[in-house]
Amino acid sequence: MNTISFYETHRNIRKHSVENRDYVSYCAYVFNIIYLRLGTLNLNSNTMQRVYFDNAATTPISEEVINAMLPILRGQYGNPSSIHAEGRSVRAAVESARKAVAQSIGAGTGEIFFTSGGTESNNMAIKCAVRDLGVQRIISSPTEHHCGTHAIEAVEKVDGVEVVWLPVDVVGRPDYQSLESALADSGDKKTLVSLMHANNEIGTMIDLGKVSGLCRQYGALFHSDTVQTVGHFPINVQETPVNFLSGAAHKFHGPKGVGFIYISPESPIKPFIDGGAQERNMRGGTENVYGIVGLAKALELATTEMKERVAHICEVRNFLKERLLEIFEDIQFNGDCDGDSLYTVLNVSFPPNPKNELLLLSLDIAGISCSGGSACSSGSEKGSHVLEAIHADPMRKSIRFSFSHYNTKAEVDFVVEKLKAILPVREMVGV
Ligand SMILES: Cc1ncc(COP(=O)(O)O)c(C=O)c1O
Repeated sequence: MNTISFYETHRNIRKHSVENRDYVSYCAYVFNIIYLRLGTLNLNSNTMQRVYFDNAATTPISEEVINAMLPILRGQYGNPSSIHAEGRSVRAAVESARKAVAQSIGAGTGEIFFTSGGTESNNMAIKCAVRDLGVQRIISSPTEHHCGTHAIEAVEKVDGVEVVWLPVDVVGRPDYQSLESALADSGDKKTLVSLMHANNEIGTMIDLGKVSGLCRQYGALFHSDTVQTVGHFPINVQETPVNFLSGAAHKFHGPKGVGFIYISPESPIKPFIDGGAQERNMRGGTENVYGIVGLAKALELATTEMKERVAHICEVRNFLKERLLEIFEDIQFNGDCDGDSLYTVLNVSFPPNPKNELLLLSLDIAGISCSGGSACSSGSEKGSHVLEAIHADPMRKSIRFSFSHYNTKAEVDFVVEKLKAILPVREMVGV
């Protein structure tokens, strides 16, 4: 929208809301003012330097992935379910992608099903485990992604499933002792443990092997939301048995709107989306062929380049951490920052300050993209359920910086300079 039509829209909304005493459009009016101001300040945003430190929300798609998708987008338009030549060539691309994904996590090819992303995979695991495998009890954590907690709340409400929310410690890790007690208390009730491998807001990771072992010991099913770790950490379902795990391409430089679910042969659920016989009768709907090919390519690159990427990202993250500690007084980090944590995430807690309220907005205007929590919650007024669960001080401001191998230390310098201009810095003795 150009600036003139934006002003017109803005005036019309105000006129309508005032005349009709319409609260919703009055809110739209207020948002418009903010957006208008940002738009004016950002008129040169195309030429302005921007630093993208929000890779836990989504990552930029890599050139190699785009190149792998182009032949399908351009020429291979067949429906993979068609038996003619056009269909067969696309079917071959989907199946070779499935094989590549399966190999990267040590699964059988028939155990991988493509979905629209992490949300669908997690919903499928939780809801189908209740519907098809007789799960009556779910043990989970309040710090799960909302697609996990809300799916669990839905089966609690609709199917009467009993839910145990485990206590978490100050870094957001579920208490293993409580997990074991809850498993022991399950008795004859078929139980599903649903715990994310790494938290998307504060990075805290669980010991996947330990939880997997406990689930085996007590005969419970285990689902892990591995959306933030697939492509970033080695995962092998042979070494660490799980019943379900999920992945989303856009978290490892693949396209958005495509993901996968791993389903172990011991947990034969039925389709979550009814329809045709696609995905071997497990998910109706014509496959997102370009997405699937892009996902497999992105995962192949993430797996082969993992070592170099990890080293680089850790360097950038540690550099930001050191610079922040040096510049700001009383800075803290949420989660198990120096322990078992996502190396892609640094959740920073700034001391109380009147400027904190608009910190994210000020950073955005300064050319820096980061986030206050998970991207999916950014439209809601409520604060982060993860920070609430770890009893983070609500007077402090938490910002999640999250990195990819495309980020540099020079970008960290840029961010620190901008932060110094916004927030009060430590007084340097002898300067
Ligand atoms: C841990 C976690 N689980 C699930 C999701 C949802 O994935 P998608 O956006 O692919 O639906 C996200 C995305 O933010 C995530 O970080």
